[in-house]
Amino acid sequence: MYAIGYTQHRPLNDPDSLQGFDLPKPQPTGHDLRVRVNAVSVNPVDLVGFQRDAPAPDQPAILGWDAVGVVDAIGPAVTLFAPGDAVFYAGDFSRSGSDADYQLVDERIVGPAPQKLSVAQAAAMPLTSLTAWEALFEQLGIDPHANNQGKTLLVINGAGGVGSVATQLAHWAGLTVIATASRPETIAWTRAHGADTTVNHRQDLVPQVRALGHQYVDYILELSNLNQHWSEIVDLIKPSGKIVSITGSEVPLDLRALKQKRATFAWEWMFTKAWFHTDDLQTQHAALTTISHLLDQGVLQSTLTKTFQPFTAEQVRAALQLVATHKMMGKAVIQR
Ligand SMILES: NC(=O)c1ccc[n+]([C@@H]2O[C@H](COP(=O)([O-])OP(=O)(O)OC[C@H]3O[C@@H](n4cnc5c(N)ncnc54)[C@H](OP(=O)(O)O)[C@@H]3O)[C@@H](O)[C@H]2O)c1
Repeated sequence: MYAIGYTQHRPLNDPDSLQGFDLPKPQPTGHDLRVRVNAVSVNPVDLVGFQRDAPAPDQPAILGWDAVGVVDAIGPAVTLFAPGDAVFYAGDFSRSGSDADYQLVDERIVGPAPQKLSVAQAAAMPLTSLTAWEALFEQLGIDPHANNQGKTLLVINGAGGVGSVATQLAHWAGLTVIATASRPETIAWTRAHGADTTVNHRQDLVPQVRALGHQYVDYILELSNLNQHWSEIVDLIKPSGKIVSITGSEVPLDLRALKQKRATFAWEWMFTKAWFHTDDLQTQHAALTTISHLLDQGVLQSTLTKTFQPFTAEQVRAALQLVATHKMMGKAVIQR
């Protein structure tokens, strides 16, 4: 099968940094589905993998996590899907990626592909939706079916891949959503994707949120750079409020700053369940199934903004370069 990857680290602006390879078709075992991949999306995690993975000369590293495709073969323990099913998923950080004709993925982290979306529209969604879903409904503990009227959520980075689904999911759950964006197009995009209002992350968030009439917010979802926004988060979180970050920090942060407010801080990593084979692995199948239905019902909109075609090393490299600008609005997808 054809796959796109690399056997040695080169800068992304080197035309040979990614290459096409002819690899054996993988064989499914256990709960594995073998999926014929039709489209993949590009996430900042591809860049993390690209910089992190130590390539072996005889075994190319294959990036790519988000995928939409059709089940082609199944392992003996599979019960949730059958050959011919259209699926979408965000995959597993420890396994070979989706930038390939075929990929193996555990059925318990796979959902049925939305039926009313194009393959590119569908491929844009799994990783960001799962991240937003787990951050809001698991790590912040928001019940989407409860009455959340009057509860406020601040989303730091509203227009990026995760932000533009998180704002939609939070709006669906009935929260008041304040999201950050700095450019006219990202402000308009964020408002069109569930944010009630926006503030500018290039300026101090505290006076801007207070000027909207919110001394504090109940929840904060941090999606850009935790240490850059930490002091604003500490100021703005309500006493007993909850904070979740999906990014990280380049410097140690002082959690003691949250003690007086007895605020809760949580991390979200979308790959935790697959990485550690947790008992609740199959909750990702359940979440993706709900997300698929919400997309088909029009409750959620695909966040696709850019499609690269065809599926070549040059197109994958161009998509990675776009994501590396940290100016993405929505998602970039590579379609076969
Ligand atoms: N933990 C997990 O499971 C997980 C999952 C997915 C992603 N991530 C991580 O989460 C981060 C966001 O990913 P993504 O795909 O959503 O990002 P993205 O699409 O690359 O985000 C691009 C957006 O970042 C905004 N931005 C730039 N500087 C900012 C700042 N100082 N403060 C706030 N926003 C700023 C830009 O808005 P303007 O143009 O308006 O300035 C732009 O729209 C990445 O670090 C990624 O690696 C983690």
